[in-house]
Amino acid sequence: MRILVTGGAGFIGSNFVHQTLATRPDTDVTVLDALTYAGSTASLAGVEDRIRFVEGDVADTDLVEKLVGEADAVVHFAAESHNDNSLADPSPFIRTNLIGTFALLEAARHHDVRYHHVSTDEVYGDLDLDDPKRFTEDTPYAPSSPYSASKAGSDHLVRAWVRSFGLRATLSNCSNNYGPRQHVEKFIPRQITNVIDGIRPKLYGDGLNVRDWIHVDDHNSAVWTILDKGRSGETYLIGADGEVNNRDVIRMILELMGQDPDAYDHVTDRAGHDRRYAIESGKLRTELGWTPAYESFRDGLVATIDWYRENESWWRPVKEATEAKYALTQRVVS
Ligand code: NAD
Ligand code: DAU
Repeated sequence: MRILVTGGAGFIGSNFVHQTLATRPDTDVTVLDALTYAGSTASLAGVEDRIRFVEGDVADTDLVEKLVGEADAVVHFAAESHNDNSLADPSPFIRTNLIGTFALLEAARHHDVRYHHVSTDEVYGDLDLDDPKRFTEDTPYAPSSPYSASKAGSDHLVRAWVRSFGLRATLSNCSNNYGPRQHVEKFIPRQITNVIDGIRPKLYGDGLNVRDWIHVDDHNSAVWTILDKGRSGETYLIGADGEVNNRDVIRMILELMGQDPDAYDHVTDRAGHDRRYAIESGKLRTELGWTPAYESFRDGLVATIDWYRENESWWRPVKEATEAKYALTQRVVS
């Protein structure tokens, strides 16, 4: 199988490439990645000789037409992915997440290529802390941020291409991923690398916001399950029953790293900060037989802390600039 992986030098995409080559060594992998601030060829270290890497933009229609025409399937991870950045400047989110998806859909339509769209639970907005409901495939779309609105728009494009043009496509909406090779702008790696650097972890607002954590390898095994067995036109929610509030995550990181669990700062809250995400992944489990391999968030976090301790050369080059950027808008409130 020849597979085109967009965003394969980013967090989830690079882990997808590593998992694919480890578990399906006959797969012919092409990565298309623009190497933005969030992408790095260092994330593909160890497999660079086994893949074709193309540096380029998913909104470049000529390039996309050519690469999609050479593939049996496209897995579209490439995106601008960070909510805080989308609040500072939404424009690249519109270009990459909407125009880039449009370019891929058109190419997949022209070449009749199987397409899988990687999306987020944030398209559904947020839930109250005491709401007994979780997100399902039937939850109405209600995105809160420029990032989640751009992803919601891209999901709608995919469904329209399925219905109007008969595109062979599936979609998945996953909850918050953690694991190796995640940029230090994101919550968990930011706090782990802060602790390594002797900086107090930074908690937005009251810290009671809940995220539904899933290990990146479980997300990617679910994507493969959908590629193998998913029904065209269908959406599958991916989640691993990992609801934890941010304060408890920070306390767990501090404790696992041998620090006082209360040694963190409250900082300025994120504008429009979603309160809670929670995924009901019964459709994926019942219809397609997927189950996550990581049963304990704590165990996955221990492994992730070890990875950042052992791979400082991967994150060190971008740490200082990331913290300097945060310092422009965030101040310690208590
Ligand atoms: P990331 O920011 O770590 O990586 C994104 C990658 O896309 C980078 O390598 C970047 O260089 C590349 N890219 C950006 N713009 C591009 C463009 N115009 N052309 C080509 N490449 C471009 O993101 P991630 O966390 O790995 O997320 C991957 C996908 O998964 C995204 O679509 C995101 O919406 C989705 N998702 C993420 C999470 C999560 O928790 N991180 C959860 C659910 C869904
Ligand atoms: O739910 C899936 C989404 O998860 C993906 O679609 C996004 O691409 C991904 O970035 C992630 O979005 P979040 O906004 O939930 O992730 P982030 O890591 O930015 O923040 C997680 C939570 O932690 C959120 O409630 C904000 C909070 N936070 C974040 C940072 C960076 C802090 O309290 N302190 C921080 O320093």
